[in-house]
Amino acid sequence: MKTYLVTGGAGFIGSNYILNLLSNPQDTLRVVNIDALTYAGNLENLQSIEGDGRHSFVQADIRDQDAMQQVFDSYQPDYVVNFAAESHVDRSITNPQVFVETNVLGTLTLLNNAKRIWQTADDEDSYRTGVRFLQVSTDEVYGSLGPEGFFTETTPLDPHSPYSASKASADLLVKAFGDTYRLPVNITRCSNNYGPFQFPEKLIPLMINNAQQHRALPVYGDGLQVRDWLFVEDHCKAIELVLKRGEPGEVYNIGGHNERTNMQIVAQIIAQLAESLDDPQISEALIQHVADRKGHDRRYGIDPAKIGAALGWQPETPFEEGIVQTIRWYLEHQGWVEHVTSGAYRSYLEQMYGSR
Ligand code: NAD
Ligand code: DAU
Repeated sequence: MKTYLVTGGAGFIGSNYILNLLSNPQDTLRVVNIDALTYAGNLENLQSIEGDGRHSFVQADIRDQDAMQQVFDSYQPDYVVNFAAESHVDRSITNPQVFVETNVLGTLTLLNNAKRIWQTADDEDSYRTGVRFLQVSTDEVYGSLGPEGFFTETTPLDPHSPYSASKASADLLVKAFGDTYRLPVNITRCSNNYGPFQFPEKLIPLMINNAQQHRALPVYGDGLQVRDWLFVEDHCKAIELVLKRGEPGEVYNIGGHNERTNMQIVAQIIAQLAESLDDPQISEALIQHVADRKGHDRRYGIDPAKIGAALGWQPETPFEEGIVQTIRWYLEHQGWVEHVTSGAYRSYLEQMYGSR
């Protein structure tokens, strides 16, 4: 039986990943979910697996060496899947410090512990069989594209925001542990995700919620920046494939060739919502062009040929289907949105776990 140590499992992608892992009650595995429960981590995301004995939640910070040592020693994971991160570009522009601390130093703490418990006694460069450290990274480490071409795994790293710089730094540390100590590692670099449980600070859920409440829809600059959108479940399935069948030391880009301008996304959300709620007040009149994000990357576009050819991964959910599902999910989970953004929940977390 495999033990997964999943960090950031109360966040958007991490919780989708765990729900997916445990979706079949017949599967025998153990998931240890480490999350510090920052503003972005919400145990409500995991309500549907409450009582599932295969899942253990540990409220801990990946930067905390003592806590990580204890977790690694007691659970002896076979897999480490590192989702835990500060993930929002705008926040990194106003406060880069915590991005370096969590995304870089936190990753180093996990690498050190994985190396420590997986190393076999007789040879420093050999590890228990069947173990793997998977770093969940992002296409933002490659920087920004012009109108043509795509990011491949050999595109030079050229991060622009403090967020992407911290993720690129973490990637280099993971690579260094692979190159120097032969630790079995993989790095996945995915494009923009969307779907259930995404914190409503990110473009798609923010626009859904604002539009529904007839609030302004803030579009940065001209709104013609391009992002390459992937349904979160497709990302989770790709991670699982890499974990099980990826070549140690390899990087895999993940994306579904689904590029849209931000204006296209916003227009689609407006149209869809206006129709499903039969509400003529939801219209493009709500769009407000606001000051552009500093250092705003113009275009992202992933070339997913490697993961397709090597592991047979293909995205399964077309955008037109995924966006309808996502809008429906947010409409049906207004309570979740209110809960995760409410002062009461924040103070509860502060009371339980201290201020973050
Ligand atoms: P998120 O912000 O929704 O979740 C992050 C989770 O990490 C939260 O539960 C938070 O509480 C936890 N966390 C933060 N700091 C921590 C710490 N010091 N110790 C323990 N837990 C901590 O982020 P997300 O969108 O789910 O992204 C998950 C990962 O995927 C990140 O590494 C991100 O860089 C990467 N990624 C995200 C996208 C995307 O579109 N969202 C795309 C590609 C890659
Ligand atoms: O590409 C993968 C990355 O996608 C992940 O690594 C990040 O963790 C994730 O947050 C996301 O980063 P982006 O910056 O692309 O996502 P965000 O939702 O913040 O913004 C998407 C685009 O929409 C971007 O061009 C900025 C724009 N935007 C965003 C917000 C929140 C707006 O125009 N208005 C807004 O209010």
